[in-house]
Amino acid sequence: MTLLFKVDDARAHDWKSLFQTHAPDIEVRLWPDIGDPAQIQFFASWQPPADLHVQFPNLQVVFATSAGVDQFDLSALPEHIEVVRMLDPGIAQGIVEYVCFAVLSLHREIPLYLDQQRQHHWQTRPLIPARQRRVGVMGLGNLGIAALQSLRPFGFDLSGWARSEKHIEGVRCFAGDQQLIPFLNQCDLLICLLPLTADTRGILNAKTFAALPHGARLINLGRGGHLVESDLLDALATGQIEQAILDVLNDEPPSQNHPYWDHPRIWLTPHIGAMTSPDSAFKLLLENIRRHQRGEPMQGAIARDVGY
Ligand code: GLV
Repeated sequence: MTLLFKVDDARAHDWKSLFQTHAPDIEVRLWPDIGDPAQIQFFASWQPPADLHVQFPNLQVVFATSAGVDQFDLSALPEHIEVVRMLDPGIAQGIVEYVCFAVLSLHREIPLYLDQQRQHHWQTRPLIPARQRRVGVMGLGNLGIAALQSLRPFGFDLSGWARSEKHIEGVRCFAGDQQLIPFLNQCDLLICLLPLTADTRGILNAKTFAALPHGARLINLGRGGHLVESDLLDALATGQIEQAILDVLNDEPPSQNHPYWDHPRIWLTPHIGAMTSPDSAFKLLLENIRRHQRGEPMQGAIARDVGY
């Protein structure tokens, strides 16, 4: 049983020592020391090479070390190779922290007050109660649900939108294409936590922004590919969107002359919303390998036809 990791050096060694301690029957190899490629059955990575199944002819499972699997070219991978996304509780915790930081910053007008500080200007705005802020989450998978649950104690007016119908306590749920516009119509703060698929690519576009209440705020924690970058600039210019907080971009890092770097109403962070930690994710990865060995379904195995 051989598992190959292609991850950053620091985490690679953590993964390896966890397997050596708790599952010595599984041989762990670290990229680029792949040894005999025919012995690799399991592959774990965030940034995979393109021709995985050609390089590793006996590959059975690809484990993404990320919540998203959009970096894998699913159409190029033969059907018998299973692809599993990472349901690390550490990722959910990271997303919850980021969502709380971003929602509370926007709710409490922190971008405006930081601008005022730079101008030596001391002026208050009325404090809007959380129950009057309508916060909507696009994407109601494990991360969207965790985000909504973390916002509940503050008393925000919460809603969510997903491809299929969902029921979440304390959250107005909207589903499918037909309910997208009604959902957007009532989002003062919109958070994107969707998976990136052919259906969701470019979903944060001019039409979406036009359906939001004037002066809405945007938080993108999904993928850069969800956002049509020039449409956001236009929506910020007219005030349709008042402020955006973006953790993901199409090109990471963006080019030095990218207009977002210096935009006064965009906050950028370098894709740090959440990161898989071997400590919190090891148990689940090992359990999935054991399930695979027993011929049982793995947690986070993706459905090829929907892409998540
Ligand atoms: C990070 O973006 C992830 O998908 O885990």
